[in-house]
Amino acid sequence: MYRVHCFVWAIAMQVVSKDEIFRLLKKFCEAVAPSGFEDDVRQRVIEELEPYADKLWVDAMGNVIAVKKGRGEGKLMLAAHMDEIGLMISAITKEGFLKFVPIGGWRDQVLPGQRVLIKTLSGGIVRGVIGIKPPHVMKPEEAKQAIPMTELFIDVGASSREEVERMGITVGSVAVMDRDVERLGNPDRVTGRAFDDRVGLAVMVAAFRAIEDSPVDVYAVATVQEEVGLKGARTAAFAIAPDLGLAIDVTVAADVPGVPEHEYVTCIGRGPAIKVMDGRSGSGLIAHPAIRDLLIRTAREEGIPYQIEVAPGGTTDASAMQLTREGIPVGTISIPTRYIHSAVEVLSLEDAVNAARLVTAFTKRINRSWIESVLRRTVK
Ligand code: CO
Ligand code: ZN
Repeated sequence: MYRVHCFVWAIAMQVVSKDEIFRLLKKFCEAVAPSGFEDDVRQRVIEELEPYADKLWVDAMGNVIAVKKGRGEGKLMLAAHMDEIGLMISAITKEGFLKFVPIGGWRDQVLPGQRVLIKTLSGGIVRGVIGIKPPHVMKPEEAKQAIPMTELFIDVGASSREEVERMGITVGSVAVMDRDVERLGNPDRVTGRAFDDRVGLAVMVAAFRAIEDSPVDVYAVATVQEEVGLKGARTAAFAIAPDLGLAIDVTVAADVPGVPEHEYVTCIGRGPAIKVMDGRSGSGLIAHPAIRDLLIRTAREEGIPYQIEVAPGGTTDASAMQLTREGIPVGTISIPTRYIHSAVEVLSLEDAVNAARLVTAFTKRINRSWIESVLRRTVK
């Protein structure tokens, strides 16, 4: 028993390190897996969770659900989404260019000049670029404006539709930006695409491994199709029927030149954010006050730096969990991220490590009496 304990403790101490978060982040981000096409990332998540789970399965939607048994005092559902925003090929021109539509929320401005990876029907990868008309042939007013996505195209170097089809690309093939995960000048700061929400996945995996002897059973759910309507979390929450839920996702860090300080939302490097509200005018989530407060108390008691977050737009899987069944009390832990929904997202590894520590420490503080007296009350 002692040896086993020491062994587990050693693993737990080791996994919530910056290097381990970086390894997980890189492994998950290397998957080409936009919403609805999560196969590649799903396999990587299963590999990382399976050795630490008492049970693990993939449901009909494609969510990965890993369970770590606790002392049976309740059920906590963690959710981090596996999917990323991407593109879907909608037409192939006879000259061999690919037209596309967005999967999830892209802005027109971030697409031109990108390299993309297109997934073929057989699972192969073809590289392409999103080119634009040379500025030399643009009219002056045209050169000033963002080019609408409907006018953009992908060039895979083909000369005809037949050549594109021989590459295995069809209408319905999907694509993502072609970017590796790399450290910036400050090695704590990393850049890449799909940090939304592969960093949440990395945090959830690290926390799940470190959770030991928890009062509640922990269901770590790597969800599908978050970016296209929070779909996987909704059905997984229905199946699990947890006593409470916690989403782990990125949030806006607008701490860059040109933005006044009161509009930063969060700053990178100042710790994970504990959400109070998101979505326009609260249409996303208003976190359950008791969960929000327990997260804050946990961070204080553990000496984990944290930020309080009120996000003016966007939301997470927590919103879908909250409105499943008769209502589920939920909260959200966010990893502050700059340039969300672009190919050059930037975050702090330290923030991710601290987010994982916060999840683990929070889990220890939940028990049956707290659930029954604070989250739900029988008055008479
Ligand atoms: Co997103
Ligand atoms: Zn997200």
